[in-house]
Amino acid sequence: MHSISSHRLFRKIVILSQKSFTYCHRRRIHTVCKSFTKGANCNELPVNLQTCDGTVCRYHVTKRLSNEIVTSDVERVDEVLKEIDNSQKGHIPVMVNEVLERLNPSTGKLYIDMTFGAGGHTRAILERAPGARVICLDRDPLAYEIAVKMSENYSSGQIIPCLGQFSELYKILQEHGIGLNTVDGALFDVGVSSMQFDNSERGFSLSRNGPLDMRMDSQRLKNQPTAADVVNKLDEVEICQIIRKYGEEKSARKIAHAIIQARSAFGNITQTKELKEIVESVFSEGSIRKDKMRRYSHVATKTFQALRICVNNELNELSNGLETIYHYLSPGGICVAITFHSLEDRLVKRHFHDIDLYKKPNASIKDYIRESRRMPSFNLFQEPEEIQRWTPLNKTVVVSSEDEYT
Ligand SMILES: C[S@@+](CC[C@H](N)C(=O)[O-])C[C@H]1O[C@@H](n2cnc3c(N)ncnc32)[C@H](O)[C@@H]1O
Repeated sequence: MHSISSHRLFRKIVILSQKSFTYCHRRRIHTVCKSFTKGANCNELPVNLQTCDGTVCRYHVTKRLSNEIVTSDVERVDEVLKEIDNSQKGHIPVMVNEVLERLNPSTGKLYIDMTFGAGGHTRAILERAPGARVICLDRDPLAYEIAVKMSENYSSGQIIPCLGQFSELYKILQEHGIGLNTVDGALFDVGVSSMQFDNSERGFSLSRNGPLDMRMDSQRLKNQPTAADVVNKLDEVEICQIIRKYGEEKSARKIAHAIIQARSAFGNITQTKELKEIVESVFSEGSIRKDKMRRYSHVATKTFQALRICVNNELNELSNGLETIYHYLSPGGICVAITFHSLEDRLVKRHFHDIDLYKKPNASIKDYIRESRRMPSFNLFQEPEEIQRWTPLNKTVVVSSEDEYT
């Protein structure tokens, strides 16, 4: 049993912020711990999570066609590991000091790196706490192979490589005999890894031509739709909705129209360069865009981001991952989430504050009154019962040093 004073100890939130990349804003770290309040010891996952049923995004076109699992592409592992070793700086994970400070890893404890990537954060956790154990999850078979190789350098069972998506975590952890309420800390560093981004064959990059793919687990789920499927098979309204919703792109309608026109004039769009040029054609020559950090960004950046989020079902996945991890953390266990753009940021904040994802942001008093009429049991003036599932660890937004995001 945890005492009330230890509960109060955790009633602070940490939100760090690092301006980075894209038009949106800095990377942000959200840190919370699983509350000691009632409901914290949950012995069952909600049914919809067990069935991997993404229910967050109203617009969800990426229907999985088949769950055929194919063997992973191990050919690039040695090449990537060599690149990591050769790189002068090595692989420096994002906001690593801030993560370590919040997660405070220690020997004997169990952590989950939900987004293993090239393993930068896992390595840092194990350097700080050589006797800790880390479950390393990633949906990308290349990342999985790196985790397998890395595990050879540690004692048996210290690194537990896991291949799969957030929505498969329940099944994966069950297979490894990891029970609910047993994990001490979890880290989400969501988005694409540089390994994925820098390989033109994967189709994420605007600056290098390659097939319009963008699937994070293409080697594993071969039948999953690609970005080319989205732009070639959906109609104009659907493409527009995806670009507007996942890219927050104001010119979504014009871009969708240009895609349809190019498709009927020249046939399927299969290369990243083609899509980039189609988007460019919508904007007048030399038009310049700046992100919220006042840095230049390409006019197609938002469109590429939208397609990537859609193809990988990223927001549903993130929501599913956050919910699942809640059930695996022990009460007091810490969850750190690094977000990249405003959609992820909003989703994480709302999840940690238990706010309905569909609720309008910044609801006014009128909205609350409307809500109370809609739900008679809702009483505006009644103190909410203390059932907060996550305890924020700090309220301030900490901006990381500039050299980390330039
Ligand atoms: C930004 S990278 C993480 C980098 C890592 N922290 C490091 O230090 O190398 C994000 C990783 O998360 C993985 N990922 C993204 N969404 C995922 C999901 N739904 N399930 C599992 N892994 C996911 C990607 O494949 C990618 O490797």
